[in-house]
Amino acid sequence: MCGVVGYIGSKEAAPVLIDGLRRLEYRGYDSAGIAVLGGGKIVFGKEVGRLVNLERELEKNPIAGMCGIGHTRWATHGAPSQANSHPHFSSDGSIAVVHNGIIENYAELRDELAAQGHTFLSETDTEVVPHLIEQALKEGAASPAAALRSALKRLRGAYALGVLFRDEPNTVYCARLGSPLIIGLGENENFIASDVPAIINRISEAIYLNDGEMAALYADRVEVCTMDGEVVTPVVKKIEFKAEDAEHDGFETFMLKEIHEQPRILRALLAKHVLADGSVDLGTELSPDYFRKLRRIMIVSCGTAYHAGMYGKLLLENLTGIAVETDLASEFRYRDPKIDPGTLIIPVTQSGETADTLASIRMAKEWGCRIFAVCNVEGSSVVRESDATFYTDCGPEIGVASTKAYTAQQMAFALLALYIASVRGDLTPEKLQEYLDDLREVPNAVHYVIQKKAEIQAIAEKHHDGPSSLYLGRRFNYPTALEGALKNKEISYQHAEGYAAGEMKHGPIALINEALPVVCICTKTADEVYEKMLSNVKEVEARNGRIIAVATEGDTELSKLSDDVIYVPSVRDEFSPMVNVTALQLLAYYAARARGTDIDKPRNLAKSVTVE
Ligand code: F6R
Repeated sequence: MCGVVGYIGSKEAAPVLIDGLRRLEYRGYDSAGIAVLGGGKIVFGKEVGRLVNLERELEKNPIAGMCGIGHTRWATHGAPSQANSHPHFSSDGSIAVVHNGIIENYAELRDELAAQGHTFLSETDTEVVPHLIEQALKEGAASPAAALRSALKRLRGAYALGVLFRDEPNTVYCARLGSPLIIGLGENENFIASDVPAIINRISEAIYLNDGEMAALYADRVEVCTMDGEVVTPVVKKIEFKAEDAEHDGFETFMLKEIHEQPRILRALLAKHVLADGSVDLGTELSPDYFRKLRRIMIVSCGTAYHAGMYGKLLLENLTGIAVETDLASEFRYRDPKIDPGTLIIPVTQSGETADTLASIRMAKEWGCRIFAVCNVEGSSVVRESDATFYTDCGPEIGVASTKAYTAQQMAFALLALYIASVRGDLTPEKLQEYLDDLREVPNAVHYVIQKKAEIQAIAEKHHDGPSSLYLGRRFNYPTALEGALKNKEISYQHAEGYAAGEMKHGPIALINEALPVVCICTKTADEVYEKMLSNVKEVEARNGRIIAVATEGDTELSKLSDDVIYVPSVRDEFSPMVNVTALQLLAYYAARARGTDIDKPRNLAKSVTVE
C-alpha cells in the first residue's frame, strides 16, 4: 500500500528518492515525504496530496545530503495530513522512520511510551517506532542497530521500515516483517524499496529481505542480520525485467500501455508453456502424478484476481474431473471450509503481497494443503510461501487498475486446465491439440480488439454519463461481466454492477430504463448459452435499456437489438473471456477519460493491498 524508498551513495539523495517515489506512487498517493541526513542533521520535507506537491516544496527548499529515506502514503491510521505523513521522528528528531504495513499493538506501545514522557504528534501507528528506538537507546542499547533490534521485537503486525539515525551518518537501516522490501545493489550506492520498479532504472541486482530480517546499508556494502543480531548471508538475485518495462513508452497512461501489452504477454506465455511436441509444461515442481490423484482445488484471491479465479474454476471443472471451488480470500479466511490436506490451494495474485490472500494460504498450510500460486512477482511473499508458482510474466503492472495481469491469469488457468486434463487423460492428445490451436488464436484476437480502440472510445463517450451501468454475462463470461463492471467503477467512478444475466429477472431488471447503459457480453457459443443470453438482451431491449453489446463479428441479430455493438473476433467459447474483457477494459478506459479522472491513480485505491 504505502511505498518506501531509501538511498545511500555518492549522489544527492533527494532527487533519487523523489524519482523512486514517483515510480512507487501507485502504491499510495495521499501524501509523500523524505528525510535526508547531511551536515550532521536530519532534514525533512513532507506534503499532503500527490508527490508533485512535495517536489514543488523541495524546489523552494532543497535538502542536501547523500543518504535518505522516502515514503508515499496510503492512509490507514489517521487522515491524509501533514502531521500524519511520513517520515516520523523521535522526540529529539534524531531518528527518522518510514513505514509500510500496520503496527497492530501501537495503541498499547503508545500508552507505555507516553507514560515514559514521549510526546506524539500524529495519529499514526508508525510514530511509535522512532520513539521505541529512542527509548531503547535511553535504556542503554549498545548501538543504533541494537536499539532498532530491540524495538522490532516489541512490534506486532507488519512492517517494511526505513530508518535514519542522525548519530550514524553513513548508514540507512531497514527491516521487514510481512510487508515487501528489497535492497537494490548498485556501484558504490545501495537502495531500499517496496518494489523493484522504484529503482529498476538504477540496479540490476537485488536482495529480497526475508521476514524477520533487518539490514544496514552503507555506500559500499550491505549487512543483513536477524532480529537477534545473527549475521545472514543474503541471496543476491538478478532483476529480470528492464527499466523500460516501468516506463510509459509514449502511451498517455500506464493502463493504456498495459492493455496494449496483452497480446505480446499472452503469446509469450503460450510460447513458454506449450512445447514443440504439443504438450503443455507448467514448469512446476508438482508432478503429473500429483495432478492425476488430485480430487479438489480451492482458488483464493481478491478483486480482479478473484474474477480470474472464477474463470479458472469454470475452465478447470469443465475440462478436468476435479471439483473446484473459488472464494474471496477475505471471506475464505474466516470460513470453516472443511478443506482436507488433499486439496490443492491456488492463490491468484498479481502482487503476491495481498494480505488476505497471504493469510488464506497460511491457514491452508496449517491444514496440510499444498499451495500452487499464480503470481506475477518473483520473490513476493505468496511465491515464497507456496510450494510452486506459475508466473504470469507480465513485467511490472503500474496502472492501479489491473489489466494485463488479469488476462495473463486467465491464460495461466487455460494452460493449467489443459495440462491437468491431459495428464489425467480427461482430454485425448488430439483434443488437446484442438484446444491449443484455438488458444493460439487468442493473442491475435486481443490485438484485433485493441485496434478497434477508436470505435470503442466513441461508444464510451456516448454512454459515459449517468450515475450507473449494468454488465451482464453468462457462464465463462459471467466473470467477464464482473470484471468489466469493476474496471468501470474503479477508474471512471461511475457505479457499475456486474450480474449473471440469468439473475437479472430476480432483481436488477427493475433498474432498466432508457438512461441505463447495459453492457451485454453476448459472443457466440457452441451451446445454448448464446440463445439464453440473447433472450436476456431482448428483455433489456423491451424495457428500453441502452444496450452496448459485445458480439461476435458477423452477428447481425445483436445489431438490431443494441444501441451500439463492439464486434470481436470469433474464438472458442472457453477462451472468449480474454478477448471480451479487453473490449471492456477499453470501454472503461475511455469512459474514465471522458469523465476526466486520474486513470492510473484512481481515488482511494492503492495497487498492492498489504493490509486486511
Ligand atoms: C482491480 C485490482 C484489484 C486487485 C486486488 C488483488 O483492478 O487491481 O482488485 O486485483 O487488489 O491484488 P493482487 O492481484 O495483487 O493480489
